[in-house]
Amino acid sequence: MVLVTGGAGFIGGNFVLHWLSDMSAEGIINLDKLTYAGNLATLASLEGDSRHIFIHGDIGDQDLIGKLLQEYKPRAIINFAAESHVDRSIHGPADFIQTNVVGTFNLLECAREYWSALQGSEKEQFRFHHVSTDEVYGSLADSDHAFRETNPYEPNSPYSASKAASDHLVRAWFHTYGLPVVTTNCSNNYGPYHFPEKLIPLIILNALDGKLLPVYGDGQQIRDWLYVGDHCSAIREVLANGRLGETYNIGGWNEKANLEVVNTICKILDELKPRTDKKSYAVQIAFIKDRPGHDRRYAIDAGKIEKELGWRPAETFDTGIRKTVQWYLDNPAWVQGVVTGSYHDWLEKQYLN
Ligand code: NAD
Ligand code: DAU
Repeated sequence: MVLVTGGAGFIGGNFVLHWLSDMSAEGIINLDKLTYAGNLATLASLEGDSRHIFIHGDIGDQDLIGKLLQEYKPRAIINFAAESHVDRSIHGPADFIQTNVVGTFNLLECAREYWSALQGSEKEQFRFHHVSTDEVYGSLADSDHAFRETNPYEPNSPYSASKAASDHLVRAWFHTYGLPVVTTNCSNNYGPYHFPEKLIPLIILNALDGKLLPVYGDGQQIRDWLYVGDHCSAIREVLANGRLGETYNIGGWNEKANLEVVNTICKILDELKPRTDKKSYAVQIAFIKDRPGHDRRYAIDAGKIEKELGWRPAETFDTGIRKTVQWYLDNPAWVQGVVTGSYHDWLEKQYLN
């Protein structure tokens, strides 16, 4: 078995589905707190599949984690669980410190106790894989080289600072205690089951609902987009063959300005589901107040994972974004399930003024 945390969220959920799509794969214990971002509907296709054991719980719960490790004896922990939205971290950072920093600390301590008691090949093969972000490196100027693993950490938001702190803990548990860890720092993901607080699903759903498409500031901030299935394959590669104590950057070589992303989504929707008045969805674009401390540019140099492990993304932005828009058009029931009262409260808090 492997223990996945945060496996009802966007990337964790895609990872669980990706892993179990291989019929010979090991089983998964999926621990998730089911915050607003966790959604069991993402895992509905696994109902009745005995290889998937869902546990509702918190990575900060030491007793629970200890019991799960003793009962299931996983050969790896893959830690996706986190508070993940930058804008929410600006409104309320406390949950980010609690889950991303204290929760990761707790998981590391539980893993250390469990791993210390293992023997022989079980001890040798155990892995703690920490899933992190490129935002820990801060913001790039236009002329800067893309983030390498050797870049200094310069986080700028409460979210990225909490992820940076968790990365440092993981590093220290390797150097001090010898816990067999690997860390991956990935760029912006997009794809199916993405909670519509993040740019791409928010734009798709707002467009279809006839709402404004909110673009922060001048819309020229750059992100490096990676299709979520490619992130999953990269994590599997690093888990299987990554060197212990190393960090690997994962990215799609797809730098795009936000406005370009929004316009691309509008064009695809114009083609797949034209507005009744035949105007482009682009007429709904609205430039709004910028995010405080907004990082200007992220870009990943994925040369290390490519050279060492031979991993490269399968999707281009053009193929991935088209699949993603089509997925939202084809899955209105999933969308209805996440567009709850608390989601509307969030939109009001973030966008009304
Ligand atoms: P998400 O917000 O969609 O999902 C997070 C999941 O973690 C949810 O299911 C939530 O219920 C669960 N969770 C939250 N707190 C928990 C706790 N205390 N205990 C157990 N479960 C808890 O996030 P995501 O976008 O899927 O991101 C997953 C991981 O990947 C995060 O660590 C994030 O920092 C990292 N990451 C995300 C991106 C991206 O573009 N989304 C890019 C790089 C790295
Ligand atoms: O880089 C990896 C990170 O990518 C992950 O670690 C985070 O978990 C993930 O949320 C994402 O962070 P971003 O802040 O880059 O993603 P978001 O989708 O919130 O925003 C993408 C860009 O779009 C960013 O420059 C802000 C802008 N934006 C976002 C929203 C929600 C808008 O212009 N309008 C919006 O309404």
